[in-house]
Amino acid sequence: MQVELYERIWMWAAGVLIVAFLGAILLTTATQAVEPPSHVETLDPTTLATHPEFGTPAVARRPDGSVVVTVVASMFDFGPDIEVPAHAPVTFRLTSADVVHGFQIVGSNANAMAVPGYVSQFTVTFDAPGEHTIACNEYCGLLHHAMVGKVIVK
Ligand code: CUA
Repeated sequence: MQVELYERIWMWAAGVLIVAFLGAILLTTATQAVEPPSHVETLDPTTLATHPEFGTPAVARRPDGSVVVTVVASMFDFGPDIEVPAHAPVTFRLTSADVVHGFQIVGSNANAMAVPGYVSQFTVTFDAPGEHTIACNEYCGLLHHAMVGKVIVK
């Protein structure tokens, strides 16, 4: 089969790009723990106020030293500032009371969606004390740009 020179060049260029993109995904997965969430847990968003966990969002410390943070995102608020310790695994459990929100902890690889009816969960360890902004990165309404929160690492 005869393939034109330029067509061969474009085929090879497309192949190189595919390999480069797959390589970038595998590299960040292996070196920076950037991976899609694997957790599926549902709840009824209409009964959040009386939910045993999400009715009273809080920061809880487990006996092994790890920390669990419950967050209910809603237009246009993530709740009070979140205080967590440095050098300990912190598991965030998120849901939304209304529409889809983003939950990105700036300066870390923590980035998840808060979806009504679902619990998003991820664990992150902060290496040093400091303050991190939580940004909503899913357009959620007129005040989306003002929807920010704060994680204080002590
Ligand atoms: Cu919440 Cu954008």
